[in-house]
Amino acid sequence: MNMSATYLGLQLSHPIIASASPLTSTVDGIRALEDAGAAAVVMPSLFEEQIRAEDTAYAMYTEHGSFSQSEAGSYFPEMPDYDSGVSGHLDTLRRAVSAVDIPVIASLNAVTIDGWINYAARLEEAGAAALELNMYFIPADATMSGQDVETHYVEAVRAVKRTVKIPVAAKLSPYFSSIGHMAHQLADAGADGLVLFNRFYQPDFDLATLSVKSDLKLSSSHEAGPPLLWIGVLAGRIKSSLAATTGVETAEQVIKYLLVGADAVMTTSALLRHGPAYMRRLIAGLALWLDENRHPSVSAIRGLKSVKQLDNVGELLRAQYMNLLTEYVPSKLAA
Ligand SMILES: Cc1cc2nc3c(=O)[nH]c(=O)nc-3n(C[C@H](O)[C@H](O)[C@H](O)COP(=O)(O)O)c2cc1C
Repeated sequence: MNMSATYLGLQLSHPIIASASPLTSTVDGIRALEDAGAAAVVMPSLFEEQIRAEDTAYAMYTEHGSFSQSEAGSYFPEMPDYDSGVSGHLDTLRRAVSAVDIPVIASLNAVTIDGWINYAARLEEAGAAALELNMYFIPADATMSGQDVETHYVEAVRAVKRTVKIPVAAKLSPYFSSIGHMAHQLADAGADGLVLFNRFYQPDFDLATLSVKSDLKLSSSHEAGPPLLWIGVLAGRIKSSLAATTGVETAEQVIKYLLVGADAVMTTSALLRHGPAYMRRLIAGLALWLDENRHPSVSAIRGLKSVKQLDNVGELLRAQYMNLLTEYVPSKLAA
């Protein structure tokens, strides 16, 4: 059985990658994931706020206090050796790269073009095999148009690509009015890969104290729909490689993502819930399904159900509406 995969030009033993999370924030965590068979890991993002010692987006991902009420918090690993400063982050990356044989992908969330460029270069120098740009900011300034937001992202990719030699992936949110157009703009700007789609903390209030709190629930497989759709639409029609993220609970979602055309499939919530060793279950589940269905390799199934391969493009795009109309509504009406 040939499980190998290629993502961002990196040769992987199989397509399943541990995406950015507290599990990948320490050398021990990364080693545990390698021991469990992860094909590659993505380190948590270095945030420009972290660099400027501010306390906004970075805190949303890392502040232990914000986890006190959240589901994710109860799975949050102890990270006694996590150094949240920039030099600590770079040092962890450097040590991880020499401690493991799998690719260690760095991640960056910057705000300014200077921030993207400077810290991309430092992450490359520290030995990252590739760079993931965690592209998300909230355009709270209502005079900023959708076009302005897109231009900022495209220019950031262009600037980073001019700066580093390692492959660069853009990790996106689903909040664009035309995902396909945005994806192609990023590919044209040089993005070697696209990671679809990130999930975010949402602001909330504590009614007892009227204080703002942020909470993050771990994902479930029900959330895999948007990446499944958009990878299916883009696969085979875009020059960037494609990685799926969100909603991988079991090997079933890994297989579906490959069928629509993902080059790699990432997982975080499942690993936080069950521990790094759960990676083995995902790999074994994929291998078993390929074997039972007589597919000789991962590449034999990649994209079989992408829009490009379907005779009827509407099959994937309209699936949810048709199911609703033909299955649920009549049975509900009859009841
Ligand atoms: C606690 C936690 C921390 C995360 N930190 C980062 C991060 O630093 N950078 C990033 O791009 N994504 C981060 N993510 C998002 C994950 O990498 C992943 O894309 C997302 O959780 C969807 O995958 P899942 O459904 O398998 O959890 C984080 C997720 C969680 C739950």
